[in-house]
Amino acid sequence: MKLYNRGIIIAGIVVFLAAVTFPFWYDRGKTIAPPAIELDTPAIQKLADKRCVEDTAFMRDNHMKLLASWRESVVRKNVHTYTSKDGRVFEMGLTGSCLKCHENKSRFCDRCHDYAGVKPNCWNCHINPEEVL
Ligand code: HEC
Ligand code: HEC
Ligand code: HEC
Repeated sequence: MKLYNRGIIIAGIVVFLAAVTFPFWYDRGKTIAPPAIELDTPAIQKLADKRCVEDTAFMRDNHMKLLASWRESVVRKNVHTYTSKDGRVFEMGLTGSCLKCHENKSRFCDRCHDYAGVKPNCWNCHINPEEVL
């Protein structure tokens, strides 16, 4: 290979690499940031013990199942209270319980659901009380 081609070849390689890796560096920091959910509501600040109904990992993975079983209990069995694994008693309700502590639906539930592409239809019927920041 003749030496005077070297610059052109190297420039070509640089342009090629930049083009091929473009999708990786172009999106950096833009797309995959996890949702910033906010737990800091007045009701949660007042809790002596800042815990959800069940432990956080369980809630993250299973809150939809918990809600489905709550609905079942209230609507079909007329049972209105739920005792958590560690013995605390809660009223079973979407607006009446979850949103009493998580008063910031749009910054908590919605942020996570938008990120995950989930659209619960619950709010067609259930009330979303006034948002608290
Ligand atoms: C078509 C209207 C409708 C939709 C949609 C709906 N619900 Fe309900 N839900 C009701 C009604 C009516 C009751 C009974 C209220 C009562 O007995 O006081 C109820 C009761 C409940 C209860 C028990 C008590 C309470 O008031 O919270 C839970 C928990 C519940 N629904 C969860 C959900 C969840 C979670 C979703 C979304 C996945 C949902 N519902 C969607 C109408 C609806
Ligand atoms: C007594 C107040 C209270 C009630 C009622 C409550 N939560 Fe929570 N929730 C909390 C607190 C406090 C945390 C944060 C716990 C921690 O810091 O680990 C939390 C955490 C969560 C998380 C995990 C968030 C994360 O970090 O990924 C989810 C999901 C959740 N709650 C959903 C619900 C749902 C759904 C309901 C109703 C079935 C509910 N919560 C009822 C206080 C509550
Ligand atoms: C940490 C993220 C996160 C938070 C916070 C969160 N959710 Fe979810 N939620 C999800 C994910 C992910 C799914 C879908 C799970 C699946 O499809 O298996 C889901 C599903 C649901 C469903 C079932 C939807 C359906 O149509 O089947 C309900 C109901 C629900 N969430 C209610 C709530 C409520 C109420 C809150 C706020 C109090 C909340 N979630 C907060 C992540 C979250």
